[in-house]
Amino acid sequence: MAFPTVRHRRLRSSAAMRNLVRETSLGRNDLIAPIFVTEGEGVRDEISSMPGVYRWSLDTMEKELAELAGAGIQSVLIFGIPDHKDATGTSAYDDNGIVQRAIRKIKALYPDFIVVADTCLCEFTDHGHCGVVHTTECGADIDNDESLDLLTKTAVSQAKAGADIIAPSNMMDGFVAAIRQGLDEAGFSNTPVMSYSVKYSSAYYGPFREAAQSSPQFGDRKTYQMDAANAREALREARTDAEEGADFLMVKPGLAYLDIVRMLRDRFDLPIVVYNVSAEYSMVKAAALQGWIDEKAIVLETLTGMKRAGADLIITYHAKDAARWLRGE
Ligand code: PBG
Ligand code: ZN
Repeated sequence: MAFPTVRHRRLRSSAAMRNLVRETSLGRNDLIAPIFVTEGEGVRDEISSMPGVYRWSLDTMEKELAELAGAGIQSVLIFGIPDHKDATGTSAYDDNGIVQRAIRKIKALYPDFIVVADTCLCEFTDHGHCGVVHTTECGADIDNDESLDLLTKTAVSQAKAGADIIAPSNMMDGFVAAIRQGLDEAGFSNTPVMSYSVKYSSAYYGPFREAAQSSPQFGDRKTYQMDAANAREALREARTDAEEGADFLMVKPGLAYLDIVRMLRDRFDLPIVVYNVSAEYSMVKAAALQGWIDEKAIVLETLTGMKRAGADLIITYHAKDAARWLRGE
């Protein structure tokens, strides 16, 4: 008799059976929603390459927060677009900067929200790099150690404003140790650091740079962000961050780097975060607006895939929609 005795289809026979044997779950608590805040009043600027994502002023941000809360999202990642940019990114560590005011406002309105502050200089520098530019006869480069002082000042200022988590995205060497020490000395020893440990130099950040007006004005970020071809180097980056006291390890971008998520999941026992970045969102939105794909199904499948690869948390511009879909709306 040629009939199979092993029948995989037995466990797929009904929705209830599939629910019973499902290995991965996706829930709204896994999701962190990025928010872009800007100066001014009454601003609700849609980012042209990211339909459905807006730059908000502090007053209009309230409406977005209410929608997120209504959808069941309770963690947000704050990015600020300041009015003033200069060589050293002073608006990043101004206690009255746009990010600091946004954090205070969110915590006042929603004390239970987890506010994650992206700690970087590129939105605040006139040259658009993530650190201080050092020019020599051989050209310009980003001065690692000088940048650390400014990043630490930024982190402390964000913690003072009430940030629950500091998320440094600058890829300087030693940034976790420097920020950890700065936070501890300022009395924030209980504020966790979510390190963008493994951040690749990627074309997938394009739409974000439009949103945050943070494109480098010369050169690129390849001397500090990682080469897309490297995986062992990701382990070295993650290891130093873990040793320096990172509380979360992040991989960024998501889709093209899920092997790296799996690798970190297998080798570290810290929470692993994946950033489903701007162009990953834009590609889905573009196809959905053409009617070429089923947006809801594609998004939930993608986010589930990120969890299956080993991510505990996902930063995603789809957070609000996904949370609603997960509730059956
Ligand atoms: C800032 C920062 C970037 C992103 C998050 N933080 C851009 C960059 O490094 O150029 C990208 C996020 C996205 O594309 O959604 N350092
Ligand atoms: Zn940056």
